[in-house]
Amino acid sequence: MENTSLLVTSALPYANGPLHIGHILEFIQTDMYVRFMKLLNTNVVYMGGADMHGTPIEIKAKAVGEKPRTFALKFYKKQKEVLENYLINFDNYYHTDTPENQELAEFFYTELKKKGHITRKKMTVMYCESCKRFLPDRFVKGSCPHCGEDDQYGDICEKCNTVLKGIDLIEPHCVLCAKNPIQKESEHYFFTLKKFSKRLETWMNDPESGVQPEIKNWLCGWIKNGLDDWCISRDAPYYGFEIPDSVKETGEKKYFYVWLDAPIGYISSTKKWCDKHGKDWKEYWYKGRVQHFIGKDIVYFHYLFWPAMFMGMDIPLPKLLTHGFVNVNGTKMSKSRGTFFTAEDFLKLFPAELLRFYYASHLDTKVSDIDLQFDDFKAVINNVLMGNLGNFCYRTLTFAQKNYDSLDENAVEGALVKKINGLIEKTKKEYNVFNFKSAVKNILQIADVGNAYFQKTEPWKNKETSAAQVNFCVNIARNLSILVQPILPEFAMKVQKALGEKNLVWDDINFQWKGTVGKVAILVTKVDKVPEMKESSSKNEFPLHMKVGKIIDVKNHPDADKLYVLKVDFKSEKRQVVAGLREHFYQKDLEGMKAVFCVNLAKAKIRGEVSEAMVMVAEDGEHVELLNVGSAKVGDDVQFEGLSSSHKEVSFNDFLKIKMTVKDGHVIYNKAKMVTSKGSVKVKKVKDGSKIC
Ligand code: 2FM
Ligand code: ZN
Repeated sequence: MENTSLLVTSALPYANGPLHIGHILEFIQTDMYVRFMKLLNTNVVYMGGADMHGTPIEIKAKAVGEKPRTFALKFYKKQKEVLENYLINFDNYYHTDTPENQELAEFFYTELKKKGHITRKKMTVMYCESCKRFLPDRFVKGSCPHCGEDDQYGDICEKCNTVLKGIDLIEPHCVLCAKNPIQKESEHYFFTLKKFSKRLETWMNDPESGVQPEIKNWLCGWIKNGLDDWCISRDAPYYGFEIPDSVKETGEKKYFYVWLDAPIGYISSTKKWCDKHGKDWKEYWYKGRVQHFIGKDIVYFHYLFWPAMFMGMDIPLPKLLTHGFVNVNGTKMSKSRGTFFTAEDFLKLFPAELLRFYYASHLDTKVSDIDLQFDDFKAVINNVLMGNLGNFCYRTLTFAQKNYDSLDENAVEGALVKKINGLIEKTKKEYNVFNFKSAVKNILQIADVGNAYFQKTEPWKNKETSAAQVNFCVNIARNLSILVQPILPEFAMKVQKALGEKNLVWDDINFQWKGTVGKVAILVTKVDKVPEMKESSSKNEFPLHMKVGKIIDVKNHPDADKLYVLKVDFKSEKRQVVAGLREHFYQKDLEGMKAVFCVNLAKAKIRGEVSEAMVMVAEDGEHVELLNVGSAKVGDDVQFEGLSSSHKEVSFNDFLKIKMTVKDGHVIYNKAKMVTSKGSVKVKKVKDGSKIC
């Protein structure tokens, strides 16, 4: 297995602005995997680049009065630079506005066409009469026809991740002049996605494909609702590659939609690299293994369009791993709260390896978001990275360097070696399945073993007779440098340099090292100050922290006949909640229900029973109704759009002062709508104008 080639990619970010620390999560995740594979001497290459085409670039370039290509090239160069500073070790970082990409986009298109997977038909598209232009994708905004979310672009809904057609938007408007567009007929090219539905379904249900369970759920839903053929062309003006023969066939110039040539950018980056190294890109894409890393916002493109194209081309399907977003201090990054960090900003505050370690300690294969909590960040770096791993390696190497000219003997510590070897094997397994969080845990346990041994041996008491024991610790540090290299490449090199070595690989792990220890450089920088978050003005803050909880048990309150005592699952914990629902619901109606709970209300004893949260309901005197969270998951945050939720404890009195009402079936606070990441929270029976309590 390890000799077949492996090609790994990170998604190609749009070259329309600086990268932020959310983008960096994916690059770090991918880079750690690639570095690990390189440690195993796998034949692996890491390909990436910037996405240069389409309306995301065009609109931003227009705003600053630049030509799209000039504008995008500038950001491509900046991205390349900042990624190097995060120690992201691409074999090639290219972009999509290149001759190789044009050639390959045309190759895919013509092959698919030959095989009968491309059709042409007339459709209605958006056209702005006042701007006198077609309005593809991001040139038009409106509400999502699937989940109702306001203010969505014509290409994809950011709330429900569904790929949209501009003409389906509800109340559309032109982003350039805000006028309502008209519908015009235009002939377009389609990839026959629909006919791949069954094969896609079989693929995603095959355990071999490795599709994560959360993603499988989304895909199932989309496929069940019926896939449409995918429109792969756009009308002029459009920044992209012209479709061969489009003028001949349709009478007008048509361009490839950005999402046709963007993923082909993975391949053209490979081709560029292969051309330079005398290799053939097909070796990687037709005969090798391919592993993509992507974010949850671009699942539709990568799990439906992309594999279906591969099926159409008879190319083996790639594997994919999807991660969630990065939140800062519990909420979406926000400029006004001072929690939006560009990749460059963050490097001004902390060395790249600190973020690499923090992300590694939180990454597994779940699609949930990762929270960069600054207090947690400080604790992880100072207490764990520095206090445990860094401290052990630094202390051991410095002690050896100061006290011994040469270490020529090794203590034979069979039991410890066995224990450490077990942990090394586990680390390898975890890296292999992208479970970086557990890999870190195992590595830290090895450092714990080393620290305890050093402490117990007390070599400072008798330096002469402790050389062999100290060398055992040096060997542990040396092995740790190899294990941690995917996460902390600089840390690893510093340790290895002190031992007169470099670029050690997995096979170099052993307990045989002897020699002279040189001076070791500082391995970890301590975190003193973390950025202070701006107190969000009360205008932007909602005082309650709300979550989706699932009622898993309902009992009558022993001492109050209007109350139930509920047991509620919030995923990370279970809480008891006393609720006045007994007059409105039977026990069995509540059991298994998801609802919205306020989780930062001060704990209270209600007639002798502890209540650790509050169920939120809509009521109008006639009905009482739980709030409907749709497909949101247990433990998900519930928020009011555009507002951050305070996590500070609130008293019951303060809770009563908060006025939320029902309007058009939504829950409203100060004009903001109550939402989860899956869409808005709904009220079905209770009348408009009623209160939430
Ligand atoms: O969402 C984005 O930023 C896209 N530019 C990702 C493209 S990934 C690949 F298909 F190129
Ligand atoms: Zn939507």
